[in-house]
Amino acid sequence: WIASMAGLAVAYLFGSVPTGYLAGKLLKGIDIRQHGSKSTGATNVLRTLGKWPALVVLVVDVLKGAAAIAFAGWFYPWLWTLPSVTPPAAFDPQGWLPWAVGLAGLAVLLGHGRSIWLNFTGGKSAATGLGVLLALSWPVALGAAAVFGATLAMLRIVSLSSMLAALTAVALICSLEQPLAYRLLVIAGSLYVIVRHRANIQRLLAGTEPRLGQSLKPNA
Ligand code: G3P
Repeated sequence: WIASMAGLAVAYLFGSVPTGYLAGKLLKGIDIRQHGSKSTGATNVLRTLGKWPALVVLVVDVLKGAAAIAFAGWFYPWLWTLPSVTPPAAFDPQGWLPWAVGLAGLAVLLGHGRSIWLNFTGGKSAATGLGVLLALSWPVALGAAAVFGATLAMLRIVSLSSMLAALTAVALICSLEQPLAYRLLVIAGSLYVIVRHRANIQRLLAGTEPRLGQSLKPNA
């Protein structure tokens, strides 16, 4: 159990790497959590610091998600071969692996949204979620990214595009041949991403959500 939890802790720590916060501190000496939407994600970095820092944050945040899944996919099979870790006789490593990887996927999303280095604040886990999907099932990632791109091109609202991409991921993972564990991970992860967009949903309903390139009104 302890060794299994260590795998999840590593995934959480991958997610916790505070990319957007570091960009704010290093480039402008600011705490990005006091600016714009207060999120540490690439969209708020774009608003606050410009497009190149945003691109770097986006790429690193996607990689964090993919790295956590790749790590879990390597770590658990390795762990279960160790003589000091003796799983019960009935233990089926092949059957358990998708569950362990799925939990690592949730842990990395949680780490990004609630970073241990930022007093459990952070971003909305959309980019990190894309990284998780890329490592888990690239057709799902591609479909979600396509819906994100199309919505953004039409409406220029990142939050709405992210939430529609999250819903697309759920629809795709449930319609493709995938382990139940991955399906549950994507459903829970997408729900988490949408819940993290609570403030955006309120602004969308009030008609005050900024479009790409617009700044956030102080009281919106
Ligand atoms: O991935 C986050 C994005 O969907 C919204 O970011 O800063 O506009 O709340 P933000």
